[in-house]
Amino acid sequence: MPHDPDPPPAKRFKPGSPFFRLDKKPGMLLPRVGHAPVSVDAQRRQLPIYPSRTQVINQLRQLHNAVFIGETGSGKTTQIPQYLYEAGIGRQGVIAITQPRRVAAISLAGRVAEEKRVQLGKLVGYTVRFEDVTSSETKLKFMTDGMLLREAIGDPLLLRYTVVILDEAHERTVHTDVLFGVVKAAQRKRTEQNKIPLKVFVMSATMDVDLFSQYFNKSPVLYLEGRQHPIQIYYTKQPQSDYLQAALVSIFQIHQEAPPSHDILVFMTGQEEIEALARTCRDISKHLPETCAPMTVVPLYASLPPTQQLRVFQPAPKGSRKVILSTNIAETSITISGIKYVIDTGMVKAKRYNPESGLEVLAVLAVQRVSKAQAWQRAGRAGREDAGSCYRLYTEDEFDNLANMTVPEIQRCNLASVVLQLLALGVPDVLNFDFMSKPSPESMRTAVDQLSILGAVERKDDQVLLTPMGKKMACFPLEPRFSKTLLISPEFCCTEEVLTIISLLSVDSVLYNPPARRDDVLAARKKFISSEGDHMTLLNIYRAFRKVSGNKEWCRENFVNSRNMGLVLEVRSQLRDICIKLNMKLESSLSDLANVRRCLAHGLFMNAAELHLDGSYVALDTHQTVSIHPSSVLFQAKPAYVVFNELLHTSRCYMRDLCLVDADWLHEAAPEYFRRKLRATKS
Ligand code: CDP
Ligand code: MG
Repeated sequence: MPHDPDPPPAKRFKPGSPFFRLDKKPGMLLPRVGHAPVSVDAQRRQLPIYPSRTQVINQLRQLHNAVFIGETGSGKTTQIPQYLYEAGIGRQGVIAITQPRRVAAISLAGRVAEEKRVQLGKLVGYTVRFEDVTSSETKLKFMTDGMLLREAIGDPLLLRYTVVILDEAHERTVHTDVLFGVVKAAQRKRTEQNKIPLKVFVMSATMDVDLFSQYFNKSPVLYLEGRQHPIQIYYTKQPQSDYLQAALVSIFQIHQEAPPSHDILVFMTGQEEIEALARTCRDISKHLPETCAPMTVVPLYASLPPTQQLRVFQPAPKGSRKVILSTNIAETSITISGIKYVIDTGMVKAKRYNPESGLEVLAVLAVQRVSKAQAWQRAGRAGREDAGSCYRLYTEDEFDNLANMTVPEIQRCNLASVVLQLLALGVPDVLNFDFMSKPSPESMRTAVDQLSILGAVERKDDQVLLTPMGKKMACFPLEPRFSKTLLISPEFCCTEEVLTIISLLSVDSVLYNPPARRDDVLAARKKFISSEGDHMTLLNIYRAFRKVSGNKEWCRENFVNSRNMGLVLEVRSQLRDICIKLNMKLESSLSDLANVRRCLAHGLFMNAAELHLDGSYVALDTHQTVSIHPSSVLFQAKPAYVVFNELLHTSRCYMRDLCLVDADWLHEAAPEYFRRKLRATKS
């Protein structure tokens, strides 16, 4: 199987020349080549996997476990489920295909429904958090791995399913890793109990699959032929201090020099930076000379609503160049045709192991360097249909120093959610769960400690047991600290407000901040700003948004992202439904927002920080020095005590989304915990 091509000799490429320069002769731009539309059936037959169809089906029929490897775009995800269905394998039940990302689950279901010429939600459907597009007819079900885990809580043997395909296994997200264990146990138990057997297939885009094969009873590894054309790799001469600027320069250099039918895919880290660069590109491209082709800029990130996601698959208008700005989602889980150039910033946003405390206790999201494996996946996107180029915005030395592999998320994240979920699944001995890559025993113990501080678990002898509170917490698709906050909110008569706040924090930012209109943004936002912090400010914005019934014009004037607000409403209504099922009293604390803050203090006390005399903050949990992120409304105010939503590591460790609290509230929330912390500081 052709895989990662041997790295071609590095060419030097230096972004840095002013991108407004246009010294190319106009005649250099070639006309766009027109393609006759190809039917979806023909497209299916052209996929690299198609010639091995019969062989693949035979294997799928015989084997109960197998690992499939194939280059991204070979047709694994869209074809194998259809082959199963068409060959009548597993028809008694549902075939589940899990994805680490919701965008991928949704778009893949859409594609397969189109190929099968059925309405989405009938034969082919998808289930992602906060959205279920399936029916009793659904046989091919694309779902996030998190959703299958949730289902396993009610149905540990996964009896509804005859086949589970764990896709994108190389990503090694926490959910996928937990799911491996859950699915493996379900498969074994079903055989033991003489139930309909469960077939489990693993699919990966990278070669390092020994671990998967070992874990699943030494299952056979099947290699799928892929297509990979040569890719020219370029590095920068010097390290780049500003990868966004380097990306911008590179985009416009390629744009001026290459035929417009060749699309560009840029790998970046997150929504905010993608949206900002998209606006800059659109602005600049408006001011280019007429000889330069127009540019269609398309963002792609996980929280993009489905209709917007589809834009990445549509060809740009004739004569225009498509520039896709994407997170690592386009590395393997989504295949986009027409890409000739890849620009790799070399960065990714991911949860990070916290070296200071030795354990990641707080949620830390950090922009960090990719692994070599990721860099090769990114480069590979340029060679799907023809020879291509990849521009790495880092030097060859920097590349050499990258880690070979990405460390599985389970070994670098907060495991409290995982442990809670395992307990809810009825796993008897959580501390010894059969993980494919075991997290360190300390991090498992820390997770249990945190859950016990939150009142979700108790220890009896050597066992960890779920408390009634823990059982309720597991009902919410939220991090334990948020479900706890929600569950205690009736004591403070503010469940409606807390629902709103948690929903606002569960989606990407509902605010947008075009840098070019900074003053307008500040002026518009002023009326919502609360001196009590970001949560309260967000609450004000939400209330104003509801008052005008989500008016689009109002959103534009106030720099509110109406799309994300729509998502907030959906999330909120689903969380509210769960509250109703749990018989929670839904009260509103309209005028007294101190109650809301007190409730947040009681739920988020593990994410609290205290102001010190020198003006710095110290996180009470880890005693680590932290700062208020400049985007916070409390940036200037510097209150004595705050709770925060997350930590962001860039040049410093920043707290994001803060709420002003009283020290007393923190102590009354968890007296024993704070006594212990105090003792730790003194000793
Ligand atoms: O899973 P793998 O990376 O091997 O490939 P796939 O996701 O099954 O994609 C196979 C082909 O289907 C891609 O190359 C695309 O041409 C097409 N596809 C599409 O057009 N729209 C999608 N949403 C997904 C796939
Ligand atoms: Mg795939």
